[in-house]
Amino acid sequence: MTGRLSGKSALITGSARGIGRAFAEAYVREGATVSIADIDLARAEITAAEIGPAAYAVKLDVTDQASIDAAICAVEERQGGLDILVNNAALFDLAPIVEITRASYDRLFSINVAGTLFMMQAAARSMIAKGKGGKIINMASQAGRRGEALVAVYCATKASVISLTQSAGLDLIKHGINVNAIAPGVVDGEHWDGVDALFAKHENLPLGEKKKLVGAEVPFGRMGRAEDLTGMAIFLASAEADYIVAQTYNVDGGNWMS
Ligand SMILES: NC(=O)c1ccc[n+]([C@@H]2O[C@H](COP(=O)([O-])OP(=O)(O)OC[C@H]3O[C@@H](n4cnc5c(N)ncnc54)[C@H](O)[C@@H]3O)[C@@H](O)[C@H]2O)c1
Repeated sequence: MTGRLSGKSALITGSARGIGRAFAEAYVREGATVSIADIDLARAEITAAEIGPAAYAVKLDVTDQASIDAAICAVEERQGGLDILVNNAALFDLAPIVEITRASYDRLFSINVAGTLFMMQAAARSMIAKGKGGKIINMASQAGRRGEALVAVYCATKASVISLTQSAGLDLIKHGINVNAIAPGVVDGEHWDGVDALFAKHENLPLGEKKKLVGAEVPFGRMGRAEDLTGMAIFLASAEADYIVAQTYNVDGGNWMS
């Protein structure tokens, strides 16, 4: 099969569902082999089977170093190396400042920030050992571009992802590893069902109302779909992006400009 990612080996964290799954499908269409690496192994296996033989499931908890090392090892053993990492796994939570708990803070930073950093580190070690460079794409968010009342911790984790992308991008380009990030706006799916339910509770809204409100505010005219992001994800993973270093791109229907 020929494609823009022909013959490449990719690992996408949190790709059992949602945006990560759409990326996995797109990468396979472009000729890559993709590790569906997720904490929910049962769902990752179903997703991989649905995508086809170029996708395979790997159990991964990005908060656990042994699990990170084992997942990278599994990709090396199966594919002979790793060319593309997408740091997509993340968790959302919402609370007013006076109600934020240490448990929520620790969990979000552990998955969204430490998970991103130590996945980048493990992938970079593997890519450097192979000596052929690679591509790392981190999932940031419009939430990382600004503060939001009720969303302080998640916003701070995504600002950290943008910052880590800059530092890692500058450090790893000497090894031919491009690190960049995508900042989506509001993307419909199971993730946003959960976000909607949290806003309903905290803002006393009927279920589904927050989705309608945020969708109506998008300049493009609707919430995003996972498929709206795949073009950027393919591009950043391809040789066409070789000269792009340490950047975060908004793909958000015009929600944010920076
Ligand atoms: N959906 C949106 O509106 C939106 C907007 C901006 C940014 N993003 C970002 O895009 C990415 C994907 O979002 P989504 O909407 O597809 O999310 P999602 O919640 O649908 O999927 C997240 C996946 O990560 C997995 N996961 C959770 N904890 C994990 C862990 N410790 N180790 C490995 N896997 C784990 C889950 O099992 C799930 O499959 C996230 O980084 C998110 O912050 C999403």
